[in-house]
Amino acid sequence: MAKIAIVYHSGYGHTKKQAQAVCDGVNRVAGAACELISIDGEGAIDAAGWKSLDAADAIIFGTPTYMAAPSWQMKRFIDDTSKRWYTQTWKDKLAGAFTNSGSMNGDKGMTVGALFAFAMQHGMIWVGTALLPSAKKSAERNDVNFLGGYAAALAQSPSDATADEAPPPGDLETASLFGQRMAGVAQQFKR
Ligand SMILES: Cc1cc2nc3c(=O)[nH]c(=O)nc-3n(C[C@H](O)[C@H](O)[C@H](O)COP(=O)(O)O)c2cc1C
Repeated sequence: MAKIAIVYHSGYGHTKKQAQAVCDGVNRVAGAACELISIDGEGAIDAAGWKSLDAADAIIFGTPTYMAAPSWQMKRFIDDTSKRWYTQTWKDKLAGAFTNSGSMNGDKGMTVGALFAFAMQHGMIWVGTALLPSAKKSAERNDVNFLGGYAAALAQSPSDATADEAPPPGDLETASLFGQRMAGVAQQFKR
């Protein structure tokens, strides 16, 4: 069984929906299991959460983009992993990321870059979306990978939309396909 852990923060519920969609994608793959680990309001996870992360074959990091960066709660979690960095406990685990923000661009790439460098410090192996973008004249907002994320799954939630209304279905399917890919790659690695 390939174990995929998703550790995420969501201030207002939009990124939580994206996290659930990634998890749904993992669960599309027979022989793969997903665990969602939420970072609480103070950026902490409990002992059981750390145990799950240590046991996972792949860890996916999810955060809203706040001020062109991961949320401070995600940053606190990142800093809390420093003991594992010291022992390279997560070396050769797969890693990937997703982020959601209010603007189409909104500097989501800065968030992804921060998460990528963090995973590299841990000696992890980065997995991107491997999804072609929907970038033609005929492109529509609900197409898969309308936001053109290769390094990570991206979503956009309009600033006045509730978490019931956004991210839109195309971005959630993009998230699911990313989760599905991570599960497939994790299975290949296990073999
Ligand atoms: C403190 C703060 C900073 C934000 N910074 C950005 C930003 O840099 N770029 C952007 O596009 N949206 C920004 N937003 C909008 C959020 O990314 C957007 O509302 C997102 O859907 C929130 O996700 P959540 O509901 O999971 O917290 C910001 C929102 C907040 C509260």
